[in-house]
Amino acid sequence: MSTSTDATASTAERYRAFADVEARGLSACYEDWAHGVAGDPATIALIDELPSPKRQPNLVFTAARFQGVPIGPYHLFRDWLHQHWVEVRATAMSHATQTNEAGRCALHVPALAGIEGPIALLEVGAAAGLCLYPDRYGYRYTGHPRLDPADGPSQVVLDCAVDGPVPVPERLPEVVWRGGIDLNPLDVRRPDDVTWLEALIWPEHEDRRARLRAAAAIAAVDPPHIVAGDLNARLHDVAAEAPDDATLLVFHTAVLMYLDEPGRARFAEQVRQLPGHWLSVEARAVTPGIALRDDVPNDSSDLVLALDGVQFAWAQPHGRAIRWVPNP
Ligand SMILES: C[S@@+](CC[C@H](N)C(=O)[O-])C[C@H]1O[C@@H](n2cnc3c(N)ncnc32)[C@H](O)[C@@H]1O
Repeated sequence: MSTSTDATASTAERYRAFADVEARGLSACYEDWAHGVAGDPATIALIDELPSPKRQPNLVFTAARFQGVPIGPYHLFRDWLHQHWVEVRATAMSHATQTNEAGRCALHVPALAGIEGPIALLEVGAAAGLCLYPDRYGYRYTGHPRLDPADGPSQVVLDCAVDGPVPVPERLPEVVWRGGIDLNPLDVRRPDDVTWLEALIWPEHEDRRARLRAAAAIAAVDPPHIVAGDLNARLHDVAAEAPDDATLLVFHTAVLMYLDEPGRARFAEQVRQLPGHWLSVEARAVTPGIALRDDVPNDSSDLVLALDGVQFAWAQPHGRAIRWVPNP
């Protein structure tokens, strides 16, 4: 059995691996659909009409849900997909997987605690920019008093389990500028973009979908400035737009996996040349120049949270838990 989800594996192998490695335990629906596709040559023939990078299960399933496929057993999904393939194919061609998870702000807030404000936030790989509003959400960190925005409770409240002496602040940071860079910025004011972001959240995760809608409504009131382009090409000029009298924080979560090794190294080199600070929250395989702290217990899916190139926490990928790493 293959465990490969990469674009060089056959479509059957990719869907089987997705079912067994990625969906199991997180989405019974996607596990069922992916297993179904893997054993269904006629459906594979449809999916193989797409270029290889577009055959990824998460993109095809999201495109089908965007077009209205009902959640149900594989045979219903299959019948629907064959009837609506033209629309699903067009959606997969015109869209990309860009899950935007506001919950990750619960990982960023303790890292921001030690940075002198006011802060100018620049997120690379921002998608719709929902992680640019750490000061507009509320937080319930286990063992700490609830944190609310300066002007009162938010419609978005993030729960995060804390392990160790995480420096949870007593008040949220003062953010005076929010900028972003993305290959394909999404706009929370466009209903189709919000529908796409909702479809990217796996079927069973209704709590995350509700949070997404609430976070999108908050962002729509004061939309972020997100520039279209490659993060390596645009980093310096967008950073130069940040106000001089604020501390610049460049950050990224779940982005560097989209870059090749030289691209990641180039980014790390560029970000180190900028004034201010660098916050990286990425999978362990894509942490340029950051020494991993496997001496501290962690899950294989945990993200590495590092400030200025030094790891200080292991983090649950959607921001549900943070485990501190002691540093000398
Ligand atoms: C998985 S999403 C993460 C979004 C957001 N950081 C979050 O944590 O919710 C990754 C984003 O990175 C963007 N991206 C990938 N490669 C990029 C590049 N070379 N330059 C700019 N953005 C890129 C994608 O378009 C996508 O919106």
